[in-house]
Amino acid sequence: AIRTQDELKALVGQAALQYVVPGGIVGVGTGSTVNKFIDALAGMRDQVRGAVSSSVASTERLKAIGIPVLDANAVDSLAVYIDGADEIDGRGYMVKGGGAALTREKIVAALAERFICIADASKRVEVLGKFPLPVEVIPMATQHVVRRCAALGGRAVLRMRDGQPLVTDNGQHILDVHGLSIADPLGFESEVNQWPGVVTVGVFAHQKASVCLLATSEGVQTITY
Ligand code: A5P
Repeated sequence: AIRTQDELKALVGQAALQYVVPGGIVGVGTGSTVNKFIDALAGMRDQVRGAVSSSVASTERLKAIGIPVLDANAVDSLAVYIDGADEIDGRGYMVKGGGAALTREKIVAALAERFICIADASKRVEVLGKFPLPVEVIPMATQHVVRRCAALGGRAVLRMRDGQPLVTDNGQHILDVHGLSIADPLGFESEVNQWPGVVTVGVFAHQKASVCLLATSEGVQTITY
Protein backbone atom coordinates (compact mmCIF):
# COMPACT_ATOMS: atom_id res chain seq x y z
CA ALA A 1 0.00 0.00 0.00
CA ILE A 2 1.25 3.52 -0.76
CA ARG A 3 1.48 5.50 2.41
CA THR A 4 1.86 9.21 3.08
CA GLN A 5 5.09 10.46 4.62
CA ASP A 6 3.18 11.16 7.81
CA GLU A 7 2.01 7.53 7.95
CA LEU A 8 5.56 6.32 7.30
CA LYS A 9 6.82 8.41 10.22
CA ALA A 10 4.09 6.99 12.47
CA LEU A 11 5.05 3.48 11.38
CA VAL A 12 8.69 3.81 12.49
CA GLY A 13 7.73 5.82 15.56
CA GLN A 14 5.65 2.83 16.64
CA ALA A 15 8.33 0.30 15.62
CA ALA A 16 10.90 2.03 17.82
CA LEU A 17 8.95 1.01 20.94
CA GLN A 18 10.51 -2.47 20.75
CA TYR A 19 13.90 -0.90 21.60
CA VAL A 20 12.64 0.81 24.75
CA VAL A 21 13.90 -1.15 27.75
CA PRO A 22 11.13 -1.63 30.35
CA GLY A 23 12.08 0.03 33.64
CA GLY A 24 14.79 2.06 31.95
CA ILE A 25 15.49 5.61 30.89
CA VAL A 26 15.23 6.37 27.20
CA GLY A 27 17.13 8.99 25.20
CA VAL A 28 14.76 10.99 23.01
CA GLY A 29 15.66 13.02 19.92
CA THR A 30 13.84 15.81 18.15
CA GLY A 31 11.70 16.27 15.04
CA SER A 32 8.48 15.23 13.37
CA THR A 33 9.42 11.52 13.31
CA VAL A 34 10.38 11.54 16.98
CA ASN A 35 7.07 13.25 17.73
CA LYS A 36 5.37 10.10 16.40
CA PHE A 37 7.61 8.02 18.65
CA ILE A 38 6.64 10.15 21.66
CA ASP A 39 2.96 9.68 20.75
CA ALA A 40 3.50 5.91 20.71
CA LEU A 41 5.50 6.04 23.95
CA ALA A 42 2.43 7.38 25.75
CA GLY A 43 1.10 3.80 25.68
CA MET A 44 4.22 2.61 27.56
CA ARG A 45 4.26 5.46 30.05
CA ASP A 46 4.01 3.17 33.09
CA GLN A 47 6.94 1.07 31.87
CA VAL A 48 9.58 3.77 31.53
CA ARG A 49 11.35 5.41 34.44
CA GLY A 50 12.04 8.55 32.49
CA ALA A 51 13.68 10.17 29.52
CA VAL A 52 16.66 12.35 28.69
CA SER A 53 15.59 14.83 26.04
CA SER A 54 17.52 16.56 23.29
CA SER A 55 15.40 19.72 23.03
CA VAL A 56 12.98 22.02 24.76
CA ALA A 57 10.34 20.93 22.22
CA SER A 58 10.70 17.20 23.00
CA THR A 59 10.85 17.89 26.74
CA GLU A 60 7.48 19.62 26.55
CA ARG A 61 5.93 16.72 24.65
CA LEU A 62 7.36 14.14 27.04
CA LYS A 63 6.06 16.00 30.05
CA ALA A 64 2.64 16.35 28.42
CA ILE A 65 2.33 12.54 28.25
CA GLY A 66 3.50 12.17 31.84
CA ILE A 67 7.07 10.95 31.31
CA PRO A 68 9.61 12.45 33.73
CA VAL A 69 12.48 14.23 31.97
CA LEU A 70 15.85 13.85 33.65
CA ASP A 71 18.92 16.04 33.41
CA ALA A 72 21.65 14.50 31.24
CA ASN A 73 24.06 14.86 34.17
CA ALA A 74 21.83 12.65 36.31
CA VAL A 75 22.43 9.53 34.19
CA ASP A 76 25.65 7.58 33.60
CA SER A 77 24.44 5.86 30.48
CA LEU A 78 21.36 5.07 28.44
CA ALA A 79 20.59 1.79 26.69
CA VAL A 80 19.16 3.54 23.65
CA TYR A 81 18.82 6.92 22.03
CA ILE A 82 15.99 7.19 19.52
CA ASP A 83 16.10 9.97 16.96
CA GLY A 84 15.41 10.85 13.36
CA ALA A 85 17.85 12.13 10.75
CA ASP A 86 17.89 14.44 7.78
CA GLU A 87 20.06 12.00 5.83
CA ILE A 88 21.44 8.52 6.50
CA ASP A 89 23.91 6.69 4.28
CA GLY A 90 24.59 2.98 3.78
CA ARG A 91 27.01 2.85 6.72
CA GLY A 92 24.75 4.49 9.28
CA TYR A 93 26.43 7.90 9.06
CA MET A 94 23.94 10.75 9.30
CA VAL A 95 23.34 14.44 8.76
CA LYS A 96 21.20 15.95 11.51
CA GLY A 97 20.18 19.36 12.76
CA GLY A 98 17.35 20.31 10.43
CA GLY A 99 15.41 21.01 13.61
CA ALA A 100 18.33 23.01 15.10
CA ALA A 101 18.73 20.55 17.99
CA LEU A 102 22.01 18.96 16.84
CA THR A 103 24.18 19.88 19.83
CA ARG A 104 21.95 18.36 22.47
CA GLU A 105 21.22 15.46 20.14
CA LYS A 106 24.92 14.66 19.93
CA ILE A 107 25.28 14.93 23.69
CA VAL A 108 22.39 12.58 24.45
CA ALA A 109 23.51 10.20 21.68
CA ALA A 110 26.93 10.06 23.36
CA LEU A 111 25.32 8.77 26.55
CA ALA A 112 23.64 5.88 24.78
CA GLU A 113 24.95 2.43 24.00
CA ARG A 114 22.88 2.29 20.81
CA PHE A 115 21.53 4.93 18.44
CA ILE A 116 18.26 3.83 16.88
CA CYS A 117 17.58 6.01 13.85
CA ILE A 118 13.95 6.25 12.74
CA ALA A 119 13.45 7.55 9.23
CA ASP A 120 11.25 7.33 6.19
CA ALA A 121 12.87 6.12 2.99
CA SER A 122 13.34 9.69 1.65
CA LYS A 123 16.20 10.13 4.16
CA ARG A 124 18.32 7.32 2.73
CA VAL A 125 21.15 8.67 0.53
CA GLU A 126 24.29 7.35 -1.14
CA VAL A 127 26.49 10.33 -0.16
CA LEU A 128 25.75 12.82 2.62
CA GLY A 129 25.53 16.52 1.79
CA LYS A 130 22.55 17.12 -0.44
CA PHE A 131 20.58 18.24 2.60
CA PRO A 132 22.26 21.53 3.63
CA LEU A 133 24.57 20.63 6.49
CA PRO A 134 23.67 22.35 9.79
CA VAL A 135 26.60 23.72 11.80
CA GLU A 136 25.94 25.39 15.15
CA VAL A 137 28.31 28.32 15.65
CA ILE A 138 29.11 30.92 18.26
CA PRO A 139 27.81 34.13 16.61
CA MET A 140 31.21 35.87 16.77
CA ALA A 141 32.75 33.14 14.59
CA THR A 142 30.05 33.10 11.90
CA GLN A 143 31.91 34.79 9.04
CA HIS A 144 35.11 32.91 9.79
CA VAL A 145 33.23 29.61 9.54
CA VAL A 146 31.47 30.79 6.36
CA ARG A 147 34.90 31.33 4.74
CA ARG A 148 36.20 27.96 5.87
CA CYS A 149 33.11 26.27 4.41
CA ALA A 150 33.71 28.12 1.12
CA ALA A 151 37.27 26.75 1.04
CA LEU A 152 35.71 23.25 1.10
CA GLY A 153 33.32 24.18 -1.71
CA GLY A 154 30.32 24.80 0.55
CA ARG A 155 28.02 27.82 0.60
CA ALA A 156 27.04 28.53 4.20
CA VAL A 157 23.82 30.43 4.86
CA LEU A 158 22.83 31.81 8.26
CA ARG A 159 19.53 30.24 9.32
CA MET A 160 16.88 32.89 9.96
CA ARG A 161 13.58 32.89 11.79
CA ASP A 162 11.11 35.77 11.71
CA GLY A 163 13.71 38.07 10.11
CA GLN A 164 16.34 37.42 12.80
CA PRO A 165 19.11 34.83 13.04
CA LEU A 166 17.65 31.71 14.61
CA VAL A 167 18.83 31.27 18.20
CA THR A 168 19.30 27.67 19.32
CA ASP A 169 18.37 26.16 22.70
CA ASN A 170 22.01 26.90 23.57
CA GLY A 171 21.86 30.56 22.57
CA GLN A 172 23.94 30.12 19.39
CA HIS A 173 23.37 30.41 15.61
CA ILE A 174 23.06 27.86 12.81
CA LEU A 175 24.75 27.87 9.41
CA ASP A 176 23.25 25.65 6.69
CA VAL A 177 25.99 24.61 4.29
CA HIS A 178 24.91 23.94 0.72
CA GLY A 179 26.79 22.16 -2.03
CA LEU A 180 28.86 19.68 -0.03
CA SER A 181 29.45 16.06 -0.92
CA ILE A 182 30.73 14.33 2.20
CA ALA A 183 32.62 11.25 1.03
CA ASP A 184 34.52 10.80 4.31
CA PRO A 185 32.08 11.58 7.13
CA LEU A 186 34.49 10.59 9.93
CA GLY A 187 37.29 12.81 8.62
CA PHE A 188 34.93 15.65 7.79
CA GLU A 189 33.38 15.63 11.26
CA SER A 190 36.83 15.63 12.90
CA GLU A 191 38.04 18.51 10.76
CA VAL A 192 35.07 20.82 11.23
CA ASN A 193 35.08 20.10 14.96
CA GLN A 194 38.54 21.74 15.09
CA TRP A 195 37.37 25.06 13.69
CA PRO A 196 37.27 27.78 16.33
CA GLY A 197 33.71 28.85 17.09
CA VAL A 198 32.07 25.65 15.87
CA VAL A 199 29.88 24.25 18.61
CA THR A 200 28.64 21.19 16.72
CA VAL A 201 28.74 19.98 13.14
CA GLY A 202 25.63 18.10 11.98
CA VAL A 203 27.59 15.10 10.67
CA PHE A 204 27.00 12.19 13.04
CA ALA A 205 29.80 9.81 12.09
CA HIS A 206 31.68 9.23 15.32
CA GLN A 207 28.25 8.63 16.79
CA LYS A 208 26.54 6.90 13.93
CA ALA A 209 23.37 4.84 13.96
CA SER A 210 23.56 1.28 15.35
CA VAL A 211 20.22 0.43 13.79
CA CYS A 212 18.03 2.22 11.28
CA LEU A 213 14.31 1.57 11.15
CA LEU A 214 13.50 2.70 7.65
CA ALA A 215 9.86 3.10 6.66
CA THR A 216 9.04 2.24 3.06
CA SER A 217 5.69 1.75 1.36
CA GLU A 218 6.25 -2.00 1.91
CA GLY A 219 6.73 -1.61 5.66
CA VAL A 220 9.55 -1.13 8.15
CA GLN A 221 13.00 -2.32 7.13
CA THR A 222 15.50 -2.93 9.96
CA ILE A 223 19.09 -2.16 8.98
CA THR A 224 21.93 -2.97 11.38
CA TYR A 225 25.41 -1.49 10.91
C1 A5P B 1 16.71 17.87 14.63
O1 A5P B 1 17.69 18.78 14.90
C2 A5P B 1 17.14 16.94 13.53
O2 A5P B 1 18.38 16.38 13.75
C3 A5P B 1 16.10 15.88 13.29
O3 A5P B 1 16.49 14.66 13.83
C4 A5P B 1 15.91 15.77 11.87
O4 A5P B 1 15.71 17.06 11.36
C5 A5P B 1 14.76 14.86 11.50
O5 A5P B 1 13.55 15.52 11.65
P1 A5P B 1 12.22 14.97 10.99
O6 A5P B 1 11.89 13.69 11.71
O7 A5P B 1 11.21 16.04 11.25
O8 A5P B 1 12.51 14.77 9.54
